[in-house]
Amino acid sequence: MKKIIYHRFGDAEVLEMADVAMPAVSETTVLIKVKAVSINPLDWKIRNGEMKLMSGSKFPRGIGIDFSGIVEAVGSTIKAYKKGDEVFGLLDVFKGAALADYILADEQDIAAKPKGASFEQAAAAPVVGSAAIQLFDTLVNIQAGTEVLINGASGGIGMFAIQIAKKKGAAVTAVVSDNGLEAAEDWGSDVVINYRNEDVLQAGKLYDAVIDLSNQLPYSAAKKIMKASSVYVHTAPGPKEIISSFFISLFSAKKYKVLMLKPSPVYLKALKSYMEAGLSVVVSRVYSFDAFKTAYTEAPRAHIVGKSVIRVN
Ligand SMILES: NC(=O)c1ccc[n+]([C@@H]2O[C@H](COP(=O)([O-])OP(=O)(O)OC[C@H]3O[C@@H](n4cnc5c(N)ncnc54)[C@H](OP(=O)(O)O)[C@@H]3O)[C@@H](O)[C@H]2O)c1
Repeated sequence: MKKIIYHRFGDAEVLEMADVAMPAVSETTVLIKVKAVSINPLDWKIRNGEMKLMSGSKFPRGIGIDFSGIVEAVGSTIKAYKKGDEVFGLLDVFKGAALADYILADEQDIAAKPKGASFEQAAAAPVVGSAAIQLFDTLVNIQAGTEVLINGASGGIGMFAIQIAKKKGAAVTAVVSDNGLEAAEDWGSDVVINYRNEDVLQAGKLYDAVIDLSNQLPYSAAKKIMKASSVYVHTAPGPKEIISSFFISLFSAKKYKVLMLKPSPVYLKALKSYMEAGLSVVVSRVYSFDAFKTAYTEAPRAHIVGKSVIRVN
């Protein structure tokens, strides 16, 4: 079977398609024929070697975290799934190697694919959807009328965060570039700001929560637009942000929090419910398996609205 691997950190050129042995199902795993794998900023940050502390430096490595597919075989202890079931899920965030014809997953890493969703939409959801759910479950408390600013709102997490925040009753301001304006409106934002024409820091409005998905709006700037008692969320934290968030939150009513995704089957099931209830999942680019290098070369600078996905089988 085919699998995308790499033997050293670097740009998309380090990726290669290898012939490898089919993984053998164990008592506690599920063998999945992969249909689609989504592309996440984490993929290229790990591949570039930017996250060695968390990912380790062992080679060869695979790439790809979240996927959809069809169950091919199950271990003897697995009761919830059988051959032929359509599933979606995510592998270990830092070791994921989902971009392959077949993968092994643990039972808690998958859930039944949302009814009505394509394999591409299902593959697009687990990482960014779980991140958005975790964000509102653990970091930002939303009540009716909570004023939320989502900076970088037209990408993967933004797509889920806008729609989930609206369902919870928030008033959402989305900051996007030209190509994300329409989508941010479609997803229910109350106010949409184009960061190319307008500086949200100068707009004179204060928020209960500022969520930065762009890595371009640090706490030091965001606090200008935060209410006296409010929360800021950083989504790409390194050691500096983790330490700052601890001390600032200790001494200030303007809290500084960091997102550290902890995948959970509960989040996958919640995502399935959201999607079956009509939450929109936009997959604006689909690449063939053979085009994996193009996909990972284009993704970081393509200004993708929603998600891009690689179709495997
Ligand atoms: N901590 C965790 O556990 C965890 C988990 C998952 C993801 N993440 C991180 O969370 C971040 C967001 O993930 P994602 O999948 O949503 O990424 P994404 O799809 O790339 O979205 C990022 C968005 O930021 C926007 N942006 C870029 N420059 C901007 C600026 N100056 N002002 C406002 N917006 C700007 C982009 O819009 P344009 O393209 O239109 O410019 C893009 O839509 C990434 O850094 C990712 O690595 C963290």
